[in-house]
Amino acid sequence: MSDELYEQALAASGRAYAPYSRFSVGAVVRARDGRLFEGVNVENASYPLGICAERTAIACAVVAGCRPGDLEEIAITASPCGGCRQWIHEFRFDRVTFKNADGEVVTRTPAELLPETFEL
Ligand code: THU
Repeated sequence: MSDELYEQALAASGRAYAPYSRFSVGAVVRARDGRLFEGVNVENASYPLGICAERTAIACAVVAGCRPGDLEEIAITASPCGGCRQWIHEFRFDRVTFKNADGEVVTRTPAELLPETFEL
């Protein structure tokens, strides 16, 4: 399941808009009802305005009506940044599959990726 999702994230990464970093990232979210939402990083000439692949995928799921608790897993072609870890925590995913810094594809829980989270 997670392997397939990772392969789909890899395919999506080909559609990233990353002309500045040239670092393309793809992500796919699987909702508990089976729906899939793809995301890619979208950069901007004003660098801080760029958005990560994870956040575009989660935003697409939200547009389709998903809320925290509705999303089961996410696969990402890169190790999620700190901000994306907080987003992943917010939506209460069961697991996160990603390629880590050693080049291995691993699966972790949100709590493993972001312990002692911020809660409002
Ligand atoms: N990037 C992501 O899309 N997700 C992450 O979690 C890490 C970073 C993107 C942002 C930027 O477009 C590029 O990778 C280089 O930092």
